[in-house]
Parts: sequence; structure tokens; C-alpha cells
Amino acid sequence: MRRKLVVGNWKMHRTREANARLIEGILKGRPFAGDVVVCAPFPFLGDLAAMLKGQDVALGAQDCSAHEQGAHTGEVSASMLAAFGCRYVIVGHSERRADHHESDKIVADKAKAALAEGVTPIVCVGETLAQREAGQTEAVVTRQLSTVTHTLAQHISKIVIAHEPVWAIGTGKTATPEQAQAVHALLRARLAAVTPHASELRLLYGGSVKADNARSLFSQPDIDGGLIGGASLKASEFVAICKAGA
Ligand code: PGA
Repeated sequence: MRRKLVVGNWKMHRTREANARLIEGILKGRPFAGDVVVCAPFPFLGDLAAMLKGQDVALGAQDCSAHEQGAHTGEVSASMLAAFGCRYVIVGHSERRADHHESDKIVADKAKAALAEGVTPIVCVGETLAQREAGQTEAVVTRQLSTVTHTLAQHISKIVIAHEPVWAIGTGKTATPEQAQAVHALLRARLAAVTPHASELRLLYGGSVKADNARSLFSQPDIDGGLIGGASLKASEFVAICKAGA
């Protein structure tokens, strides 16, 4: 039985001053039946690590370097994240793939670097609208996933995968539960070909998840929770999504 997982992706939002209130609001919403994570911008991690110490809401980051250490100006290593108590890191978000030209190989190397430090990578895959309309969804997510499975080999069972259709991110357009389930079932079948643990891996859906659509998405057999952008910035909305997994 897979535990549900809901991950907030704050992106480049929030202020240092306002964070405490959001965290308080989330903690007040407990108990949650599943696991809950907040992925914050790097400069906030120290504050948040202190606020979440001993709490059952975990801390995560939104990216990490593929390198262990060295002359990589502006980058943050997985070991630095681990030192700040991050248990998760998002890698390969479509905004990073687009804005920073991150290839499938770089994304896979980031996932590998995170695992080496005991930080669970949340690897994002997803098709654009043009790719979906051209009937390429299956090929695109399979390609993105296969680079990761190839790079991580047997360690693939330790990651989380997030399917985020690019056309659904921040647009208010959500994949229907059936559309999302179809992709998740495909991802799980691909995973089953490379690991005996495919049925234990958590597959999240992301893209305009809100309190009012979370339950129908999360009740699909291969959807194990969500990666939540906009709706993770408001405590009551995020708490309602966290509870939708129950
Ligand atoms: P959204 O973002 O929930 O605002 O669509 C999801 C994401 O980008 O992770």
C-alpha cells in the first residue's frame, strides 16, 4: 500500500516574513493521512528547517546541482540541502527544463546526486500541449523516464516521479483524472520493466491541482498524490489538498 504524498512547490514566491504564517497554518491543519512536504526557495531553507524541526511536515528544495562540489557558481549541492534538513528535492521541473535548458541527462544526474546524499529526488516528467496534440505524450514521458531509469539503475525504486503536463501548470487547466491516470499507468508499466518495486513507487500528478479537484485525481489507482504550485501558497487550500489524499 503506497502512502499518499503531497508536495508544495513554492517556486519563486513568498517572503521571509510571511513564511512563518503559512507554515503555522499548514501545521494547524494536521493530522494528515499521508506525507506532506514543502519545497521552498534556497534562502528560506534555514528558517524553515528550524520551523519544521520535529514536525511531521518535511522540507524540500526545488533543484540541486548534478555536481558533488566544486567551481559551479550559483549552484547548490545535494549535500548542502541535506545539511539543512531537506529530505526531498524537485529535479527536472518543466520550468527548469525550459528556462535553463536542462536535458534529460542533466535531470537524471541531479537525481543521482540527490540520492547519493540521502535526499529523495522528485523527478518531473511531462508533455507540452503541442506534444499531446501530436499524440506524442507516451513517447515524451517514456524518453524522459528512461534516461532516469538508465542512470539510476536499481536505485530507481528510491525516487518519486511527478507527471506534470506542461499545459496544465499554472494555467487552471487540469488533466482529467482519466487522462492523468492513463499516463501514470504507462509510467508504472515502464517502471515495472526495470524494477521489481514498481508497485511501491509513488507517482504524483501536478498541474493546477486545487482543493476541489484533488480528491478525484488522487483516487485514481496510479496517482499517489500531487505536486502543487499555486495552491500550495495558501494554507487552507494546501491543507484541504493534503487531506484529499486520505
Ligand atoms: P500549479 O504548478 O499547481 O500552479 O499548476 C504545479 C507545478 O508547477 O509544480
